[in-house]
Amino acid sequence: MQTPLANKEFDHTNTINALADTFENIRLACLETGVYQICINRPKVLNALNLQCLEELNACLDLIERNSDVRVLLVTGAGEKAFVAGADIAYMKQLSAQEAEDFSAYGNQTFSRFSQLKVPVIALVKGYALGGGCELALSCDFILASDKACFAQPEVNLAILPGFGGSQRLTRRLGLSLALELVMTGRNIKSDEALKLGLVNHVYPADSLNEAGLELAKGLTHKSPYALAAIKQLMHQGENIPLDQALKLESQSFALTFAGNDREVAMQAFLDKSQASFRSLQKTS
Ligand code: CAA
Repeated sequence: MQTPLANKEFDHTNTINALADTFENIRLACLETGVYQICINRPKVLNALNLQCLEELNACLDLIERNSDVRVLLVTGAGEKAFVAGADIAYMKQLSAQEAEDFSAYGNQTFSRFSQLKVPVIALVKGYALGGGCELALSCDFILASDKACFAQPEVNLAILPGFGGSQRLTRRLGLSLALELVMTGRNIKSDEALKLGLVNHVYPADSLNEAGLELAKGLTHKSPYALAAIKQLMHQGENIPLDQALKLESQSFALTFAGNDREVAMQAFLDKSQASFRSLQKTS
C-alpha cells in the first residue's frame, strides 16, 4: 500500500526525538541508555490500529533501525485499559475486499519488521490485546503481561479472520489445534491461562509490569549486541526450516560470533574475572 509517510525520507541529522514528535498516534521515547519504547497512543479507541497508525509505526521503525543507540525496544499501549484492542473496526468497516487485502499485507509487513530488527523487542501488555493487538504482541520477541491482561483473536465475531499474522504466529507458538480453537471461538484468555499455554513469557502485577520490562531491557543492554543480533536472526530463521538446515545455520552463526570482536572481549573478561562492556552495532545506512 503506497502511503505518504511510508515513503518519507528522514533527515539523518535530525534527532530521533525531534522526528518522533511528528507522530500523532505513536509515542517514541528513550527510557534509559539503550532502551527505547514505542507506545501506541490512541487511548480513546483503546489504541485500535488504523492505517495512519501503521504508517507511523513504520516510520518509527525506520528511526529505530537507523539509530545505533537503540539496544532494546519495548512496545506498549497508552493507558491502563488496553495494549491494543485490534485493528480499527470503524476504519475496516468501509474497506473493499481489495483494500482489506492491502491493509492486511501492510500490517503483516509492518509487524514482520519487529522480528527483522537486530535488537530484542519486548511487548508489555496491560489490559486488552485483542485481534491486531494480540498479533502485535505475538510479533515481538518476548511478551510480558500484567495480571489484568486479556488476549484474544475475536475476528470471527466480526465475520472476518485475523489479518495481521495471528492465524500463523499463534499456530507456530501454540500448535495447530489450540490455535484453531482460539481463532474459531474468539474466546478471551486471561493472563494466568496465557502463561500456562506459553502465549506469554511472564506475568506481573499490573503496577510492576513497566518496572519488570525495564529491568529485563536494561539487562539485555549489557549483552553483546552482536551476539543478540546473531541469536535473533538465527532463531527466527531456524523456526521455519527443516532441523538439519537449521543446525547448519547454527554452526555458521556460531562461527560468525567467533569472527567478531565481542566474543574476544567477553571471553577475556571471564578469564580476568571482570565485567565486559560492548559497543553498539554499526548504524545501518
Ligand atoms: N476498533 C475501533 N474502535 C474500538 C476498538 C476497535 N478495535 N476497540 C474499542 N474501540 C472503541 C469503542 O468503539 C469505544 O469508542 P466510543 O467511546 O467512541 O464508543 C472505545 O474504544 C471504548 O471501547 P468500549 O466502550 O467498547 O469499551 P468496553 O470496556 O465496553 O469494551 C472491549 C472493551 C472489550 C475491548 C471492546 O471495545 C471490544 O470488544 N473491542 C473490539 C475488539 C475486537 O473485536 N478487536 C478485533 C478487531 S479486528 C482485527 O484486529 C483484525 C485484524 O487482525 C487485522
